[in-house]
Amino acid sequence: MPERPDASAHLGAGIGYRLDLREEILGAAGRVEVVEVMADNYLFRPERRNELAALRERLPIVLHGLDLSVGSAERPNPDYLGEVRRLCRLTAAPYYSDHLAVTRVRGVSLGHLTPVWYGRSNLSAAIDNVNAVQDCLGIPLVLENITADLTIPGAEMTEGEFFRELVRATGCGMLLDVTNIEVNSLNRGLDPADILRSFPLESVVQVHLSGGVEAGGRMIDSHSAPISERSWSLYADLLRRAAARVVIVERDADFDDGAGIMREVSRAGAMLAAARAGAPVSP
Ligand SMILES: [Fe+2]
Repeated sequence: MPERPDASAHLGAGIGYRLDLREEILGAAGRVEVVEVMADNYLFRPERRNELAALRERLPIVLHGLDLSVGSAERPNPDYLGEVRRLCRLTAAPYYSDHLAVTRVRGVSLGHLTPVWYGRSNLSAAIDNVNAVQDCLGIPLVLENITADLTIPGAEMTEGEFFRELVRATGCGMLLDVTNIEVNSLNRGLDPADILRSFPLESVVQVHLSGGVEAGGRMIDSHSAPISERSWSLYADLLRRAAARVVIVERDADFDDGAGIMREVSRAGAMLAAARAGAPVSP
């Protein structure tokens, strides 16, 4: 088993590991510095562990999951959490990421990333859940902002304030999905810069960039298209304000232009490197 890397290590730019991109990823030595593996594809599947161990020999791995449901009133499912811990150890993950969302209610899976109600009672439950996860895993939990068409009525704080309180109380990190900000700003008529600045940017560990499709005046975060210039600009804005350690290009469909997708990884990495060097960051 590989040694666990420093949780605060700078890993650089990479891409979501998908079998359709495997050849491009393994052939892009130097440009792809890290891969993000979808944890749920490997949980409770011991027959796939060798595949991950072999990948870990080639590249550092960060894990990204879907179903911790830290926004639920109840604690995370212990069997699920145990499997996540096993995968973290197998891959020497420096941290584990999931979403600030609800995906289970009283043990029933919703099959969807549902927004949290931003109230005091939910904040208290989320703090307990994040603490339980971090105690079990022994590494930091890093939470991602999701897309949502609405704020659940009666909120006692904003999404950004909820994130700030959660980070302050638990020491967890943030995975800032820049394109999710773009999507929410377009679909809800909000200023993307305002959304960006509302988050606890000093706690950003990782960044997501992806491309969506626009139809009927709405943007859908389909992860199926090139990253828009709006997202690149927001990413530059973020890097001028925060010291991210990892940036991942997410692509889940339309893999035909593998070379173009790898160029996006290079562009994201060059901007991250410029920010680290204290040089001006431009999209
Ligand atoms: Fe994302």
